[in-house]
Amino acid sequence: MKKTIQDLLTEAIKSIELFDAQLLLAHVINTSREFVIAHPEYKINCVKKFTYFQLVKKRNNGIPLAYLTCHKEFYGLDFFVNKYTLVPRPDTELMVDLVIKKIKEHKIKNAMLLDVGTGSGCIPISIATKVNIKTIATDISKKAIKVAKKNAEKHKVNLTCIHGSLLEQINDSLFLNNSSLIITANLPYLTDEQFNKEPSIQHEPKNALVAADNGLALYKELLEQINKKQITKPLTLFLEIDPTQSEKISIFIKKVFQKSSLHIHKDLSGHDRVVEIVLQ
Ligand SMILES: C[S@@+](CC[C@H](N)C(=O)[O-])C[C@H]1O[C@@H](n2cnc3c(N)ncnc32)[C@H](O)[C@@H]1O
Repeated sequence: MKKTIQDLLTEAIKSIELFDAQLLLAHVINTSREFVIAHPEYKINCVKKFTYFQLVKKRNNGIPLAYLTCHKEFYGLDFFVNKYTLVPRPDTELMVDLVIKKIKEHKIKNAMLLDVGTGSGCIPISIATKVNIKTIATDISKKAIKVAKKNAEKHKVNLTCIHGSLLEQINDSLFLNNSSLIITANLPYLTDEQFNKEPSIQHEPKNALVAADNGLALYKELLEQINKKQITKPLTLFLEIDPTQSEKISIFIKKVFQKSSLHIHKDLSGHDRVVEIVLQ
């Protein structure tokens, strides 16, 4: 028997939040959440009803909404995501804002952006839709690289995607010509303990979230790789961190790059979130 939108939502909110129930239903019947809200009397067939309650069950088991709908909004853009990529976080929009502001305020021309650990590609793609910049992205996960490529095509951004660990597959020439280079990285920075304590992230790939050495292992390795490069151009790095790491990472940066200026930017909640390093 056919049921209405209202019937399905009434049943679904016994186990999941109303917002999630509406979005999942909109996804199943291929419409918007606004339509679902405005048409409680709309009839849903049995096949769609079955599909819907399977998704409701998965949501109730903690699978992120974005993995069930395969979509996540980031910086006002719609990104395709799947279980191989981290779900882009609103906190990361700060880094995008900072890069765009830097390029505009300093009137940087012919800049090159390298995003390390790109996941869905949300950082370079968001930046490239707002300013004129060449973009390269790397990730250790082949499956994440595939997703980043798909998102770049969707948003018509010319993103060069390279599979590999940190800078291993990046040509030294990137550090050598005259245009400015900006490196962004939102690499895994949680500790095992932080990961285990947070139920909401258990369905996301652990290797996209956790790093050794108090969460700093990958940032330290990246900074050491950069330090070994011959660099003949202005280089700015933006690293997203956990607020508890700002002191430890600042000490490390000052040790590796004695001639650098360092600024820690706070997120909207007032927590240290992005480290900006300008190499001189
Ligand atoms: C925290 S996620 C961030 C993804 C994306 N930048 C974002 O902000 O949504 C970290 C990403 O780094 C990648 N990663 C982990 N270790 C890496 C390594 N050694 N080299 C390159 N990428 C790595 C993971 O596969 C994952 O996609």
